Amino acid sequence: MLFDPKPKEDPKDLFDREEEISKLRTGIKYPLTLLLGIRRSGKSSLIKVLMKEEDALWIYLDLRKYEGKLYLNYRDLTQELEKALNTIPDKLRKLLNGVKGVNVMGLEVKLKWGRGKVEVSDLLERLSEIGEREGKRAIIVLDESQELRKLKGYNLLYPLAYAYDNLKVSLVFTGSEVGMVYRFLKLNDAGSPLFGRAFVNVTVPPFPRDKAIEFLRRGFEEVGVRVKDDELEDAYSNLGGIPGWLTYYGFNYLQERDHRKALDKTISLGVSLIMEEFRNFLSIRRGAESRYYAIMRVCVKGCRWSDVKRAIEAKEGVEIDDKRLSELLQNLTDASFLIKENDEYKPADIMISKAFESPINMGSY
Ligand SMILES: Nc1ncnc2c1ncn2[C@@H]1O[C@H](COP(=O)(O)OP(=O)(O)OP(=O)(O)O)[C@@H](O)[C@H]1O
Ligand SMILES: [Mg+2]
Repeated sequence: MLFDPKPKEDPKDLFDREEEISKLRTGIKYPLTLLLGIRRSGKSSLIKVLMKEEDALWIYLDLRKYEGKLYLNYRDLTQELEKALNTIPDKLRKLLNGVKGVNVMGLEVKLKWGRGKVEVSDLLERLSEIGEREGKRAIIVLDESQELRKLKGYNLLYPLAYAYDNLKVSLVFTGSEVGMVYRFLKLNDAGSPLFGRAFVNVTVPPFPRDKAIEFLRRGFEEVGVRVKDDELEDAYSNLGGIPGWLTYYGFNYLQERDHRKALDKTISLGVSLIMEEFRNFLSIRRGAESRYYAIMRVCVKGCRWSDVKRAIEAKEGVEIDDKRLSELLQNLTDASFLIKENDEYKPADIMISKAFESPINMGSY
């Protein structure tokens, strides 16, 4: 069902995206693929549908829950790996026995994270061997991989580079904080283990107008509900083309049976989700909160670097360092709250504009 708010898993529930799926299908034949797109654009759905369609040894880690955390440690990483390994077929799971730090008890895999801990490279090596033996590619998916940049006391880039260079595994990194994924992988940083490695890049854009309206029409048809064309148009003008918001709207409509109510409910949910994500973003940037709010307020309808400088200086009454200001703007674009087009910064999505237009959300800022 198109209006199911969970990520889609069944290929028949995935609307459009043939091009992205086909790129992704090519990507998984290579060592490294990045699947990038702003929040709720459909990244997890794409990967989950592909997991249903492509017979491979899939290891899927969902790192979203670390979004609000300041850091994660080796124990968190091994726990996520353990969870993922416990979803592979029983007979393959048994083959993990013998890797240092891995215990297969009955059918359950346990990974050690303290003394005698499991090494990610050993694990990847064994997965590669199992894959080869079974004639399947081992594919490691790190969903919301930007969270791994907060991993403390362990450099995951070394085992990843080792896997890239020596093993038959494919790595897929998804990320909604597009710039943060680049920062984590440091592909362009000469001192980094993954420096210079080639990768396949798949981006998941919002639906253009026609597709968004067709998505809604199809979703309503599927459940036999008739909705007026001008309401569909109005939904698109208010929500834009991000599949997540369109899905929520459809889902809400089916409960409320009223366009206005469904729209209001979707906007209010959307705005509160965005503000929560913004607070998460601020939680690791203590001390600069009021500047970030000020920037979002100035840029809600589009802004230039100099507009932001003027606004912050007027607010604080002192000069702000140019480099520092550029860094603040870069962090907001890396986290996909703003996008930069030519010399203009603007909210990455219409729902983000709505969130920062609302005086309630801006509070004392
Ligand atoms: N192509 C699509 N067809 C049908 N539904 C979709 C499609 N893309 C996304 N959706 C729906 O939109 C919502 C968001 O999708 P999904 O969770 O896959 O996106 P995401 O990019 O992984 O989001 P997040 O940034 O929150 O992790 C879900 O309700 C999903 O069912
Ligand atoms: Mg997701």
